[in-house]
Formats: sequence, C-alpha cells, structure tokens
Amino acid sequence: MTELLAATPDNIAHAAELLRAGELVAFGTETVYGLGADATNMRAVARVFEAKGRPHFNPLICHYPSAESAFADVEAPELARRLADAFWPGPLTLVLPRRITCNVALLAGAGLDTLAVRVPANPDALALLRETSRPVAAPSANRSGQVSPTTASHVMAGLAGRIAAVIDSGPCPVGVESTVLDLSGGRAFLLRPGGVTLEALEAVIGPVQRGMTIAQAQASQSLRSPGLMISHYAPDLPVRLNAQNVAADEGLLAFGPALPGAGAVFQLSERRDLVEAASRLFDGLRAFDGIPGLNGIAVMPIPETGLGLAINDRLGRAAAPRGLT
Ligand code: TXA
Ligand code: MG
Repeated sequence: MTELLAATPDNIAHAAELLRAGELVAFGTETVYGLGADATNMRAVARVFEAKGRPHFNPLICHYPSAESAFADVEAPELARRLADAFWPGPLTLVLPRRITCNVALLAGAGLDTLAVRVPANPDALALLRETSRPVAAPSANRSGQVSPTTASHVMAGLAGRIAAVIDSGPCPVGVESTVLDLSGGRAFLLRPGGVTLEALEAVIGPVQRGMTIAQAQASQSLRSPGLMISHYAPDLPVRLNAQNVAADEGLLAFGPALPGAGAVFQLSERRDLVEAASRLFDGLRAFDGIPGLNGIAVMPIPETGLGLAINDRLGRAAAPRGLT
C-alpha cells in the first residue's frame, strides 16, 4: 500500500522517518514530482531503479535543503557559488566533483566521480529534506520511459504499490525538470535544458557551452550519454511535431489559437506564454491517453527561446522512435 499524504508537518515528519528507514517517498518539487530515497543508503537507492523499472543505472540528482549542505558533499568553485546565489532554491542542478568525505552511495552517482546536486524551491520538499537530514536522491517519480508526473495522482497512477508514500503538495508550478549544468570541467556545459533558461544562466555567468539539441541528435543518431536516452516521456500515442495542420483522428497540443479540425484539443498556452506552456506540458502529453478515435498527437510549433528550449527537448523525446536509446 502506498500512503497518499497531505503536506502537513506531521506527515512530513512521518515521511522523513520512512526515508531514514530506507523506504521510498515521492514528493512534489517546483519542477516535477521526485521519487526520493536516502542517498547514503545503497539499498534504498537500488530500490529507486527497481521501482522505476529503469534499465540502466543512470546517475541521480541529490537534493539538499540549502546550498551549504549541498556544497558539503561536492567541491564548489566560485562559479558554482554564484549560480547557487542566483538560482537556489530553484530548478537548477549542478554537476560537481564529489568530495572525499561525501557519503552518498556510489550507485546514486552511477559510480562517477561527480555528483549532481540541487536545492528545490518547494517549501514542503525543503521541510522534508531538513527533517530527513540526509541527501535525498530523486529522479522523476514515473516508470522509466513514461511522462514525468506533475501531480500526486500522476505519481499514484504509475507507482502505487511500489513505494511507501507520496506527499501531495499540489501541481508543480514549473512543470519541466531542472536545468542540468556540468561545472566539473571548470566551465559551464549544458547537459539538459530545463526550468532555468539558458538566457537567465548566461546573464549571470556569461556564455554556456552546449551540445546538440534533441532534433540534431536524432538527425545524427549519435546521442550516447547515460541518462539522455532519446525515447522518453512517451505518451501512448505517437507524437508529430511542428504541425501546420491537424487531422480528425489526432489530438492537438495547441500553442496559440488552435489549428482547426482536430479530434481533441489541449491548449498549452492560448497567449503563447512559454512559462504557462511548460507548466501544462506533461499534463498535455497525458491528456489524449485512452481517448477513443485518436491515432496520434500533433503539436503546434513552439519557439526555441526561453523555456521553449526545455519544452522542445521533452517534445523531441516524446516524438522519438520508441526503443531508440
Ligand atoms: O527537476 C528535476 O531535476 C527532477 C526533480 C525530481 O528534482 N529530477 C530529475 O531527475 O529530473 P532525473 O533522474 O530524471 O534526471 C537526472 C538527470 C539525468 O539527465 C542524468 O543523466 C543527469 O541528471 N545527471 C545526474 N548525475 C549526473 C552526473 N554525475 N553527471 C552527469 N549527468 C548527471
Ligand atoms: Mg525523468
């Protein structure tokens, strides 16, 4: 049985107890719901991979209640401290060298000598992290390959019976995962676009290096990085991007005034607001599951600026051929 807990102080204390006992607890963050485990407990971390049905031991993000607690586990150069001052608590993850004293289980970092750390902005998550007083490893709380959860009921739909509890802190306001920035090479390299935009990062630290976008990677089929599988966030129906028209047997993910003729419409943002569209994206990818008469999902074009970079990254994965890794 999975307990569905309202985010009260008593329930948060109970959830922290469960985490310290090696159980799995899902909790809301500002980005998506995370599937939490005590990062210092190797068995608990192993159970995360088992509960998600993850085929690979991808490295997980460790969550902390403050920059000070995060930087006790990783080496933080001045660049990291500036980013933490500007964006924590918030949807930014920093990949940094582990300290020798760091007691996060090696499995949480997939055996790498770096660790991904983040301080989430949700007050219930911060309370849970403070009460647990251990780093909490937490990937998105969905079965591997499926759409990331932005509500407690999404989590229950995928993981009920496989985890001890879910703390319901309402819908996630940002709606896409954190931006992952690798600082371990001395310079900033964008590993995953996310809730903090490239523009916002560059305003603080100057130019950020980046690899291929998903569209470029699909074109060259050369994406090989762990945790960056192309096919991901897959809804039940096939997804078609940059739609200029839509058929009666398609569900339309609209951005701006909807194209005419769709079998069903989910509006990401009528007024073309990328923040609103990001917050509604994963709901939209689930909206057409199980609707009779639909054979596909068509997505209207979304600009590659601001949060559009993260939105198009997730849509590109949702549209990728299934099983391509
Ligand atoms: O918003 C988020 O980041 C959510 C919430 C729950 O915090 N978490 C999340 O975790 O999205 P997950 O496990 O789904 O994504 C972790 C990402 C992967 O792309 C992984 O490859 C990368 O972070 N990552 C983690 N540790 C890394 C490391 N040491 N080096 C390089 N990449 C790493
Ligand atoms: Mg995920």
